[in-house]
Amino acid sequence: MTHISTDISDITILCGVDKDCNPESVGEIQIKAGEIVGIVGPTGSGKSTLISDIEQLACGDTPSRRKILINCEEPDQILRRDPKKKRIAQLSQNMRFLADMTVLDFLRMHAKSRGKNSDTPQQTIRTANTLTGEPISEDSQLTILSGGQSRALMVADIAIISDSPVVLIDEIENAGIRKREALRLLSGRGKIVLVVTHDPVLALMTERRIVMKNGGITGIIETAETEREVCAHLSELDEYMMELRDAIRCGRSVEGSYLDAFRSAGSL
Ligand SMILES: Nc1ncnc2c1ncn2[C@@H]1O[C@H](COP(=O)(O)OP(=O)(O)OP(=O)(O)O)[C@@H](O)[C@H]1O
Ligand SMILES: [Mg+2]
Repeated sequence: MTHISTDISDITILCGVDKDCNPESVGEIQIKAGEIVGIVGPTGSGKSTLISDIEQLACGDTPSRRKILINCEEPDQILRRDPKKKRIAQLSQNMRFLADMTVLDFLRMHAKSRGKNSDTPQQTIRTANTLTGEPISEDSQLTILSGGQSRALMVADIAIISDSPVVLIDEIENAGIRKREALRLLSGRGKIVLVVTHDPVLALMTERRIVMKNGGITGIIETAETEREVCAHLSELDEYMMELRDAIRCGRSVEGSYLDAFRSAGSL
């Protein structure tokens, strides 16, 4: 049974300034344990920067001048310096493994440092393989994994081994992995989840979304009931796209049955 961390019950973003040093329109945002919050905005609007402010536990010392509180208090300096104590997991936008070791050795090392059971590394690989088309084998070198495989492995590692109460996700949709399953795996169990996304399905899966422009937060939108319905329809269309993508990836032709499926997905 995985240990559920309850030591971070909320985080608060005390807003700062945008790229032109104008104050952000929202004073503060509090996110409670168990919440999934989206971050949306055009390219270059400051989404990754906001995630990085949270990851660094900014205290007015970054260009945005934001401050991050944990449990309504300014975090101790030790928390900022010691990644083990910080307990914030980040899935960054562009990542590649640099360590020269096998997948299994890496997971064993991580599981041991987190005091996890010895069967956790294999469980992590099995979980990663539910997210990616081309399976990861335990004796592969980390450096030869593809972008999608690396992402899938990190998602499973964060979900199963890291067990951090705060999870920051930067654009999971571009990695070619099963994004909705990945978000479900990473969220829940009382975690605080922030997910940067350009994807409407993921954005509408969240409870509310922070809107960014020109480096600043310009608003927060609660996901409305109609948006949840739109999300359900979009998920079906998305499922269709996944099947089509898989068929094309596996070298199959797109036959009549796909057209029928498209018509029924389109007429939802
Ligand atoms: N509040 C801010 N003050 C000053 N500079 C900022 C601020 N917010 C973002 N920037 C700068 O703007 C640039 C773009 O920001 P960022 O990479 O966070 O955008 P993004 O929304 O993640 O874009 P993409 O969708 O392309 O990933 C970066 O160089 C960043 O340092
Ligand atoms: Mg970004």
